[in-house]
Amino acid sequence: MNAQEIDKQRDGRTHGLTIKISSLSLFSEIPGPWPSFPLVGTNWQYWGQKQDLFQLHKAFEHKLLKYGPICKEEYQYRRPVVHLFHAESFPALFRSQGSCPIRPPNEFVCKYRREHPEKYSGVGLSNALGEEWRSMRLALAPVLRQMSAIHTKDMLDIQTEICDDWVRHLQESAQDGVVADIQELLYMLALESIFALCLEKRLGCFEGNPRAREMVQATKDLFECYQKLYYGSPLWKKVPTKPYLDFCKAEETVYRITEDFLREASATESQSRVLRALTTLPNFDWKDVQLTAMDFIVGGVFTITQSMAFLIHQIAINKRVQDKLVRTLRNAPIPATDPYLKACMKETFRISPTVPGVMRVLPEDTVLCDYHVPAGTAVFANSLIACRNEETFHRASEFIPERWLDGRPQFPFALLPFGFGARMCPGRHFAELEMCSAVASLLKKFEISSPMEQIPVKCIFVIAPEGEVPIEIQPRGNDGPD
Ligand code: HEM
Repeated sequence: MNAQEIDKQRDGRTHGLTIKISSLSLFSEIPGPWPSFPLVGTNWQYWGQKQDLFQLHKAFEHKLLKYGPICKEEYQYRRPVVHLFHAESFPALFRSQGSCPIRPPNEFVCKYRREHPEKYSGVGLSNALGEEWRSMRLALAPVLRQMSAIHTKDMLDIQTEICDDWVRHLQESAQDGVVADIQELLYMLALESIFALCLEKRLGCFEGNPRAREMVQATKDLFECYQKLYYGSPLWKKVPTKPYLDFCKAEETVYRITEDFLREASATESQSRVLRALTTLPNFDWKDVQLTAMDFIVGGVFTITQSMAFLIHQIAINKRVQDKLVRTLRNAPIPATDPYLKACMKETFRISPTVPGVMRVLPEDTVLCDYHVPAGTAVFANSLIACRNEETFHRASEFIPERWLDGRPQFPFALLPFGFGARMCPGRHFAELEMCSAVASLLKKFEISSPMEQIPVKCIFVIAPEGEVPIEIQPRGNDGPD
């Protein structure tokens, strides 16, 4: 499409209303890596030593430096993906979403689930598109309401109990005051909490329940396979490659264990509010219940674990923040509502995001950074890079929770840890409750520090610590900081 054709088609279809058409640049002119090959697009850049597949976050920084605030690459089968690196350009993307936002699905998940109709009723909430997604999200509204009811006494009580038990477990795991890897313990906390949310039952993760260990391992395997299948060779579409077979195995494990737990829980008289809401949805059969529970577990366990590891590490290395937090928590009956703890959480998401941004497929032609971008293009609002920009956040590399206490941020779209709009994460409130409860329980008993000023990270579909995350714990005296 040339500039004149765009001009003709533009009326009422684009959102760059303040931009003169003559100043628009063509889609093909967006800078980015080249050449692009028929099957693999420009994914060759992630192969070998050039730019490691598991270090994609570094590749983003490299792209910003090389190409500027917008760049285009081509994934498998030459599908273009546009990256936006500046927060100013995000609103134009979100304005174009409409009520049915399109997030590109994980095609391998869709393929596997569609090929097993005896187990799955569809591809699940996270991967559904269009009407299928809209009707599922609408149908799930009563369940999502229960999940967000985090300030009810029973929800708070059970999460506080779990977090206090977790701290005891952590203390037992420590040797000479050092927890070798807090991440492993956090997986168990996240799993125990999500099962308590869905089933109001304790799973026994801290007592070494073997099914819990198997579930955590399967969740880890899933994310590693997602990364390889999404960004690596697309051969899995033709033949079952090793990453695809590994993915199938992990998916089967999560399915089997979820099914066991769900059957056990639904056989008892006292079902949880979430499970009751789920099993009494009109037009929802057992397969839908199972699929939804799986999506919550997979969507929740891995992301909460990494986010908590980053939050606890930040608090451990910032003594000033930790002391202030201990003081403010003394006067906070519900930790999840304490403004300073919430600010610490936001600042952690800004400095160490678990999800680096939000991906959308444009439903209509849109103007982004003065370029015409056609409908159907996948666009990634890269929050990770936007949040590191000095012009967006003063002293961007420093951990300063206070910046979130001083009113509305100048760029409200820069930080997107749970996405944006109608497709935003339905587990957000629960995740925040969990993270705050864990920190409050930990700081109540221990002063924490870390032998590592920085923890290296890797990209396994989300961003996670690479290697162990050690934490030093010292029993906190009754006095604590003044
Ligand atoms: C710190 C923890 C978490 C983070 C950082 C996170 C982040 C996200 C993000 C960025 C999205 C995409 C939103 C968008 O496209 O606008 C998402 C979607 C989703 N998340 Fe979470 N999430 C977390 C915890 C959870 C939990 C605890 C659950 C379930 C209990 C959950 C279930 C889901 C589901 C089902 C979706 C798909 C929603 C849809 O497509 O309609 N997440 N999450």
